[in-house]
Amino acid sequence: MQCSWKAVILLALASIAIQYTAIRTLTSKPFQLCPVPSPQNCGLLGGPETESPIEGRAGCDDYPYFSFNASRKTHIMVLATTRSGSSFVGQLLNQHADIFYLFEPLYHVQTTLIPRLSHSRNAADRRVMLGASRDLLRSLYGCDLYFLESYIKPAPANHTTDKLFRRGASRALCSLPVCDAFGPTDANVEEGDCVKKCAPLNMTLAADACREKRHVAIKVVRVPEIGDLRALVEDPRLNIKVIQLVRDPRGILSSRIETFRDTYRLWRIWRATGRRPYNLDLSQLTVVCEDFLGSVSTGLSHPHWLKGKYMLVRYEDLSRNPLLKTMEIYDFLGLPMDKSVEEWIQTNTRGSTELSAKHKYGTVRDSAANAESWRLKLSYDMVEYTQATCHKVLHQLGYKAVKSAEELKNMSLSLVQDKTFVPFS
Ligand SMILES: *[C@@H]1O[C@H](CO)[C@@H](O)[C@H](O)[C@H]1NC(C)=O
Ligand SMILES: *[C@@H]1O[C@H](CO)[C@@H](O)[C@H](O)[C@H]1NC(C)=O
Ligand SMILES: *[C@@H]1O[C@H](CO)[C@@H](O)[C@H](O)[C@H]1NC(C)=O
Ligand SMILES: *[C@@H]1O[C@H](CO)[C@@H](O)[C@H](O)[C@H]1NC(C)=O
Repeated sequence: MQCSWKAVILLALASIAIQYTAIRTLTSKPFQLCPVPSPQNCGLLGGPETESPIEGRAGCDDYPYFSFNASRKTHIMVLATTRSGSSFVGQLLNQHADIFYLFEPLYHVQTTLIPRLSHSRNAADRRVMLGASRDLLRSLYGCDLYFLESYIKPAPANHTTDKLFRRGASRALCSLPVCDAFGPTDANVEEGDCVKKCAPLNMTLAADACREKRHVAIKVVRVPEIGDLRALVEDPRLNIKVIQLVRDPRGILSSRIETFRDTYRLWRIWRATGRRPYNLDLSQLTVVCEDFLGSVSTGLSHPHWLKGKYMLVRYEDLSRNPLLKTMEIYDFLGLPMDKSVEEWIQTNTRGSTELSAKHKYGTVRDSAANAESWRLKLSYDMVEYTQATCHKVLHQLGYKAVKSAEELKNMSLSLVQDKTFVPFS
């Protein structure tokens, strides 16, 4: 009697522990062992109350995620920073019929864990954010979209939400069977139309759609360096390929000043008055350069764990020659490029000036000639300051420094040097 009473509690506890561990195991450390309820508990494992632990155990041992044949699926990551052209690269993947694409899911991790700071410099915050980010990415690559729900505010009810960040940027989430507002002939649904016309997102359907696709691609701008992803890259259950997108930091700065008007207000004051505000947050620039430098140094030093898994792409090269660069990207991924990707490039880069004027992707406007348009927007002392702060990374990536205002504004002279970054294979 006493034994079975204890056993019931033990079983209840074990059941909770197993469920918790099952979640953790799927999402955190590779190959963490699932605790199995001890069979010493008065032999209760044969009894009727054991249904729940056995279910729990099945969830742990036989979860499809483990028997999943990783060699069949490619887990693509676009590692970038804001205003570096990552939306464009994301679209190059999003347009592919075999790829399930998510736009910056880590947004939800950040807003939940570090609500007030957009760029926390606190080391502890950064670690927490990174740990949670890796867990989430691992789950999402396994199409476990429910895991994302714990970061969405307000919490989704019945696995349904209308708060998924930039849902409309993901083609699979705006088309059948996830959204029935558009037919199969509505090829390119505008992001805003998707959000307006589709019913709230059913995460169950979204996860099904993810499993249906052969590959998963995720765009990430909230991971500072490639080194922070090592645990994921080395995870044998995943097959990660990282496309690191970089851009001239002077161009990033200029684009951010235009885009993030509040956060970069003091930089605008500097530009307008010619005087650097004493309370300017210089880390808004230095962090970009430090992260690039760290990441690119790691990537280009060809550590064994990145073999075949890392490609460096300069935004400027992509803007100059979108089709060729995209083919190189698909080559690196080992996937055939499909027609819809090519068509999307044709429509959204040069040769379609009328259409591009109203199009939302920065790169459309920025394409080719405009990749260096920042030179006409930043003052020479801002450029000089950026060059001094970022000289190592400018040199490493092949961006030429200017020595005078004349040189800066002379557009017949490109500041992007030819440089080839061969993927490490
Ligand atoms: C995984 O898939 C590949 C290619 O389809 C196949 O060659 C390999 O045997 C599979 N591995 C397992 C463990 O099923
Ligand atoms: C969730 O589903 C249940 C059962 O279908 C329903 O009673 C409940 O109202 C739903 N909750 C929300 C917030 O839609
Ligand atoms: C979401 O989709 C699943 C699968 O089709 C369905 O069973 C479920 O009822 C849907 N949820 C809601 C809230 O409509
Ligand atoms: C711009 O640069 C080109 C090439 O170096 C040079 O020939 C030209 O004189 C420069 N133009 C001006 C206005 O300085």
